[in-house]
Amino acid sequence: MEKIVVEQSPGLKGEISVSGAKNSVLKILAASLLAEGPCVIEDVPDLLDVRAMIDLLRALGSKVDYYPEENKIITEVVDPSITVAPYELTNRMRASIVVLGPLLARRKRANVSLPGGCPIGARPIDLHIKGFRTMGYTVTTDHGYVEGYVDGVISGGQVYLDFPSVGATENIMMAAVMANGTTTIFNAAQEPEITDLANFLTKMGASISGAGTSIIRIKGVRQLIGVHHQVIPDRIEAGTYMVAAALTKGQVLIKNVLSTHLRPVISKLEETGVIIEERGDALFVDASAGFSGVDITTLPYPGFPTDMQAQFMVMLCVAEGIHSIKETVFENRFLYVNELMRMGAKIKVDGSSAMISGVDHLEGAQVRSTDLRAGAALILAGLVATGTTEVFEPQHIDRGFVAIEDKLRGVGANIRRVKE
Ligand code: UD1
Repeated sequence: MEKIVVEQSPGLKGEISVSGAKNSVLKILAASLLAEGPCVIEDVPDLLDVRAMIDLLRALGSKVDYYPEENKIITEVVDPSITVAPYELTNRMRASIVVLGPLLARRKRANVSLPGGCPIGARPIDLHIKGFRTMGYTVTTDHGYVEGYVDGVISGGQVYLDFPSVGATENIMMAAVMANGTTTIFNAAQEPEITDLANFLTKMGASISGAGTSIIRIKGVRQLIGVHHQVIPDRIEAGTYMVAAALTKGQVLIKNVLSTHLRPVISKLEETGVIIEERGDALFVDASAGFSGVDITTLPYPGFPTDMQAQFMVMLCVAEGIHSIKETVFENRFLYVNELMRMGAKIKVDGSSAMISGVDHLEGAQVRSTDLRAGAALILAGLVATGTTEVFEPQHIDRGFVAIEDKLRGVGANIRRVKE
């Protein structure tokens, strides 16, 4: 059994370099299924989810050369006849569902097993399906599979999303790039990863406008070609290390960031009293004067990211006073709270809200990472807890954080991975 062992580590100091964005690269790899010719993807983070997507691409007929030491992937479709994505491959990660759009667009048929992923809510895909149907695809769900095919002309259409779902926006965008007409997505998600995907598709020859806003227009084109692309930095990884610096009252330079993508996180941290200085493509986080509590509501981008909720929860656990977190994106994202309470945190969860009464200190304990962001948050808690914290099931964390223990050790954290 593997675990990450963390000892109290006050005052982190030094530099951490952020890797490429998980939530970008997974969709970009899926989009490579649309290209004629090789795609070269740079700044690919070495993550379990990336490896899961590589396996899925290979099963779908792509040749994938992965160079983890160079953070690079070269991929090319060699057999476009495969249209089935089986359960053994999709159950490893929820994002697998984004192969549906590219398969429908280029291979005119897809049969994708409903994916697994983090247990943080029901996570339906009704919005994806509604979008495909509006464009003209025939889609059914049966025995745990989503099946779609082209029966007639894909003329595009006007898709209104009831909620600005990231995955639905991406899937619909990819299903629309080779349609015979124009598709407009209203109430589209505006996350930076959507813009990165749109930039990749545009380089390939797609005609997309409005990505990064709530209305995206996609005019179908006949062919897309392989291109070279560099993935944007991971704003959630960056935010997690910013919180690590804040929590430990440290001074850390976070390198390779796009600060505009981090605006909601920077603003919240500044509200706590932490000083953040922009230095080109780096952010200097100075929390030597400590921090106070804040209230938080998670929202779709540019609101406060749900993927940073658990990390800020740890700050509020040890901040003075009573503060609240309201989760509006996922319906079940407080599972990890029980683990923090085993470390001495005082948290009351009521539906989608949590009230946190700050305590003087957390105590090291044996805890279990329940999902990928929560797992990272437990490591952060270990950095400020007295004694030793053991975080079990670190494979959840490895899905989305590159060598988290090495990066934290590099700024002075007492942390190690133990394989028993
Ligand atoms: C993506 C991110 C995840 C992030 C989330 C929200 C990836 C791989 N993952 O997940 O890290 O936390 O965005 O920023 O990019 N929903 C529906 N019907 C649908 C689709 C979604 O009701 O058809 C609901 C979900 O249940 C959830 C909410 O919409 O409550 C947000 O989901 P969505 O934005 O789709 O998240 P993901 O794309 O799965």
